[in-house]
Amino acid sequence: GRRWTEVGSLDDLLKDQTVLVRGRAQTIRAVGKKIAFVVVREKGFTVQCVVTVKPDEVSPQMVKYVNGLSRESHVDIEGVVSVPDVAIKGASQQVEIQVRKIYGVSRAVPNLPINIEDAARSEEEIQKALEAGEQLVKVNQDTRLNYRVLDLRTPANQAIFRIEFEVADFFGQFLKKEGFVGIRTPKLIAGSSEGGAAVFRLDYKGTPACLAQSPQLHKQMAINGDFGRVFEIGPVFRAEDSFTHRHLCEFTGLDVEMEIKEHYFEVTDIVDRLFVSMFDYLNEKCSKELNAVRQQYPFEDLKYSRKTLQLTYEEGIKMLQEDGIEVPPLGDLNTEAERRLGQLVFNKYGTEFFILHRYPLSVRPFYTMPCHDTPVYSNSFDVFIRGEEIISGAQRLHEPQRLTERAKACGIDVSTISTYIDSFRYGAPPHGGFGVGLERVVMLFCALNNIRKTSLYPRDPQRIAP
Ligand code: 4AD
Repeated sequence: GRRWTEVGSLDDLLKDQTVLVRGRAQTIRAVGKKIAFVVVREKGFTVQCVVTVKPDEVSPQMVKYVNGLSRESHVDIEGVVSVPDVAIKGASQQVEIQVRKIYGVSRAVPNLPINIEDAARSEEEIQKALEAGEQLVKVNQDTRLNYRVLDLRTPANQAIFRIEFEVADFFGQFLKKEGFVGIRTPKLIAGSSEGGAAVFRLDYKGTPACLAQSPQLHKQMAINGDFGRVFEIGPVFRAEDSFTHRHLCEFTGLDVEMEIKEHYFEVTDIVDRLFVSMFDYLNEKCSKELNAVRQQYPFEDLKYSRKTLQLTYEEGIKMLQEDGIEVPPLGDLNTEAERRLGQLVFNKYGTEFFILHRYPLSVRPFYTMPCHDTPVYSNSFDVFIRGEEIISGAQRLHEPQRLTERAKACGIDVSTISTYIDSFRYGAPPHGGFGVGLERVVMLFCALNNIRKTSLYPRDPQRIAP
């Protein structure tokens, strides 16, 4: 086969060389009958290609052909790399291709519902363009999602989903090195795994069943099956009623469960080292992608410390109360209170990533271990980025009797989780773990304002397509 060059790797080191690229015609502009410019885009990177009529090399028909291309059609281009004297606007690569040959590969229909160039602009660029009297269609979030395949072509989206892949991949790699085994648990299960009403119910060959709200029960059973330390990356289903910026009906759960030898801080220690090294990795290895996101959605680097700050829930409440915010001492924090706490913690400790632990037992799921000394509190924690929750975790009850009592007290029909409870009757070690929302991590690391931006094909209470 011939040698192909990726648009994103075109640079001045290739000056005067002949290259072959495939990409989409993002914009096409003819200047008279002898020159045409095509901006060709591949995986979010763009290069300006120049078609100039030249005897024996480039015919006027070629200029005509180029001018007749529809936007977003795929083309193969062979040409010579050149380096212009002035900076190139409207393309990511600072070299041009002097086109020798061009072939159409696929044709896009004219008048697409989304113009990729417009969809890739930042708020600020849109404002400036409008002030300058430019014709431009502002693309709202719903239109983007309706035509997701087009929307995904913007440089920011290309970057977001590459970053998301890196987060999940790093998660697995890190845990593997720490002795964790990757597992897969069923998503069709008999009873709800987290309690509560947010469950998708279904008929399993005549038996009532549901889609797993988390791998919670089965990851704990894997500990009772002697795997010691396990993790899972998989879909999580929540029949959310609330239509918010951070809730999806289906998201990707990064789940961890591990034996505890002495103290449940062994679990938060993993959280600390996993995330600090993940943030370092992203900043170092994904700087290109982070910059592409920033171009469209400007954000400041996440501030985090070398050793993750751990505060107790009581300390958090106290900080909020001193700030004049009323919070029920044994209740839960609402979204506003969490955000405010995020700001207060940042002002005081200079970090936007921290762990809040010792939550009141009453606001945690039935399987949570109460604190040994003060059982109104629990060995549980949430983790925050920029004042929003990305993780919740805890030590679990491992005595079948207490587990049954707590499940009943929480209104759970124990017959639906009997195999889970039984697994503790055969001997069960102390253990704990946590669950991370992948889309939330990327959303908050990049300070994006909507979880739909970090889900490839989001499912929310009003959307099941595309
Ligand atoms: O807080 P959650 O519900 O905890 C559990 O599922 C436990 N089994 C975890 C554990 O091991 N104890 O969910 C865990 C994380 C949340 O912190 C949040 O990041 C994310 O999953 N999450 C959601 N993400 C998107 N849409 C939703 N509806 C989410 N609900 C939770």
